[in-house]
Amino acid sequence: MFMKKVSLTGIKPTGILHVGNYFGAIKPALELAKDYDARYFIADYHALNTMKDPGELAANIREVAAGWLAAGLDPERLIFYRQSSIPETFELSTLLMAFTAKGLMNRAHAYKAAVQENAEKGGDPDAGINMGLFTYPVLMAADILLFDADVVPVGKDQVQHIEMAQDIAQAVNFNYKQEVLKIPQAAVQETVAVVPGLDGRKMSKSYNNTIPLFAPEKQLRKLIMRIVTNSQAVEEPKDPGSSQLYLLYTLFASPGEQAALAARYRSGGMGWGEAKEELFRVVNRELAPLRERFQTIMAGPGALDAILEQGAEKARPIARATVRRLRKAAGIDL
Ligand code: TRP
Repeated sequence: MFMKKVSLTGIKPTGILHVGNYFGAIKPALELAKDYDARYFIADYHALNTMKDPGELAANIREVAAGWLAAGLDPERLIFYRQSSIPETFELSTLLMAFTAKGLMNRAHAYKAAVQENAEKGGDPDAGINMGLFTYPVLMAADILLFDADVVPVGKDQVQHIEMAQDIAQAVNFNYKQEVLKIPQAAVQETVAVVPGLDGRKMSKSYNNTIPLFAPEKQLRKLIMRIVTNSQAVEEPKDPGSSQLYLLYTLFASPGEQAALAARYRSGGMGWGEAKEELFRVVNRELAPLRERFQTIMAGPGALDAILEQGAEKARPIARATVRRLRKAAGIDL
């Protein structure tokens, strides 16, 4: 029987989705789902490490899930679920702990950065660091290894975590002298341009320079008008290649539209205000239908919860099989 390869990724529900997430993560992952058996999930236990406000976490889980559905994720074609609905994740995570060197966790970038920050402040090196952060890569390895993932679409910042999942899986397979766990590969979308934010730096929640994916039309327009440009006058010819505004435009406009706008930039006579109006037009054209779908889903969250529950029901037998395999190999299932 021909089996499709498995693509899996986790989405940490720690903030509202923005245009950078859309082009950097959502679109490439949905593209991959056309050729792979995709398993995409909301990593709510990962979010818990940093989010302690229950109302905020609950709202984020729903909004991020609704966002992916609004952006085109088809829950009939791929398995879409919440990490917290798969108890096998936590069972596997505990099993993997026995194969994870503490030294490996010491080297994780996120943990190291937190320790470093504490050292710079001159206080307790462990201040504010919970075990969830320290063991984060083990939980993530469990997410991945549970579902026999071949590829894991992630941003560059997550590559180290995938390498750790490989290390941990190899330690298991080596010990039991059999392929108990499949070794996953990271799929980093190199071709996706860095999406510039309102201030020209990479669009990121931590820079506070994002365009929310589902911003109401009025707010969207306001944000676009706020994009930082240089001080060239209306009549001056402008270089599209060095304009963040133009770079954003290329993400939303057709090749014909891009060529036309580039020509207008170069010939002069078009001010930044007008260029922003044109950018708003194409951004709103693409995002308006997403926004509408998002609002419809959020208006009746019962249906959304049911979709995630159905996803979990499809996911659990796969997870169960992996845990059983490892328990048997380990001598725990007698
Ligand atoms: N750590 C990822 C992030 O911060 C989210 C995540 C959790 C994940 N589990 C995963 C990504 C498994 C890929 C595979 O974005």
